[in-house]
Amino acid sequence: MGDLTTERSSATGTAPVLVASNRGPVSFSTADDGTLTLRRGGGGLVSGLSAIDDPNAVWVCAALNDADRRAAADAPDGRLDLAGHDVGGQAVRMLDIDPETFARAYNGVANSTLWFVHHLLYATPTAPAFDAGFRTEWAAYQAYNSAFADALAAEAAPNAAVLVQDYHLSLTPALLREARPDLRIGHFSHTPWAPPEYYRLLPDDVARAVLTGILGADRAGFLTERWARAFAACCQDLLGATIDHEALTVTHDGRTTHLGVHALGADADFLRERAHRPDVDERLTALRAAVGDRRTIVRVDRTELSKNIVRGLQAYRHLLRTRPEWHDRVVHIAFAYPSRTDLAEYRNYTAAVQDLAEAINTEFATPTWQPLILHVNDDFPRSLAAYRLADVALVNPIRDGMNLVAKEVPVVSDRGCALVLSREAGAHTELKDDALTVNPYDVIATAEALHTALTMPEEERADRTKRLAAAATALPPQQWFLDQLNALAPW
Ligand code: F6P
Repeated sequence: MGDLTTERSSATGTAPVLVASNRGPVSFSTADDGTLTLRRGGGGLVSGLSAIDDPNAVWVCAALNDADRRAAADAPDGRLDLAGHDVGGQAVRMLDIDPETFARAYNGVANSTLWFVHHLLYATPTAPAFDAGFRTEWAAYQAYNSAFADALAAEAAPNAAVLVQDYHLSLTPALLREARPDLRIGHFSHTPWAPPEYYRLLPDDVARAVLTGILGADRAGFLTERWARAFAACCQDLLGATIDHEALTVTHDGRTTHLGVHALGADADFLRERAHRPDVDERLTALRAAVGDRRTIVRVDRTELSKNIVRGLQAYRHLLRTRPEWHDRVVHIAFAYPSRTDLAEYRNYTAAVQDLAEAINTEFATPTWQPLILHVNDDFPRSLAAYRLADVALVNPIRDGMNLVAKEVPVVSDRGCALVLSREAGAHTELKDDALTVNPYDVIATAEALHTALTMPEEERADRTKRLAAAATALPPQQWFLDQLNALAPW
């Protein structure tokens, strides 16, 4: 990157560092009197970006609902900070994308197609079927990605570093490179990546566009080496790209993209402090009262198809059916909070979880014992209370980019917690030595692992938890973010 590039570029922005993601660091709701109320969100990216103390950094995100759209439309160029909103340490440009375009891009392509492909979620005899409706959605996804590329191009200072996040924005890196060749562009996938045989379910042009879109970046980051290698395999298979397996690079059309592996860890400082505030203690007392002196199996998830909640409940039912010694001695606490409820599959899945939970309680409950406590509303302090209380944590996704619950529980656990963990979660790579590994499709093996976890000697459980916590916090969000930024330094 020399001065020539800078001179040639038509940069107008001032941001030296930019992040782009569908969901931003803030969201709005409309109060009864019609005024907008702002809520600041959390998560790995929010704490990651706090590592750079630069008020000129800009986070570009989409307006996700009507209140967001109102706030974005009322702000100059969507710049919420310039409109006086308290958005955190950086500037935020929220894109007021037309609701129909947004819904088609987010629900139709990102969540119903790319998410399903990467998590292997299709029941393939009937789905997917890429018809005329899909083509309308794909056009919307292209427009949505262009809107991000345009906003980033406008905000970025010469030679700025831009970190584009996730499957919603797979076309943005290439579009941005075309507009602003001076920029240093990274893309990061928070999901798994599908193996080529499954990825090829996508229409050929779409499959190729997603790959070449990401290859527009200088670096493409993944949570595990497994997902990075799957991406490289797709590039080789569908684009004929050249892969350097040692250096982990993909060369296509005369450009080389470096693949990076950054295993996002739990934020130990934040979690330990947050988990001991009074609101968490209060909920812990309530949970203890409900459980009594029984053992607990805890799970906390979005109600998400890939989280495999139904098979988790089937495994618990199998445990109670085959090992009656656990009757009245264990309670399963399952928190499955709402997610992507615009999609029928997710609404149906939530109903399936609720029906099975009810059936389990009907089959086994006694006047003094409720074997399963299911909550379907989000309550973060209550989740932390459950983490502290858990004797066993069940994390059994079909496939997961990382799974931070598996990393958070050992950090927060009061007395040590045995972790039953799917081998298909990204977190398994780092936690496998001290977790009890399960095949997420094998309900009987999962039930057996729950039994082993429940009977694990206390000392062993505490020792394993210490090691799990150390592995889970190896790469805190701030370092995770800085590593990606530093790796984008001109080479
Ligand atoms: O990569 C998966 C992801 O984008 C996570 O970062 C996030 O936890 C989750 O999906 C939430 O998805 P949504 O924004 O659709 O609620």
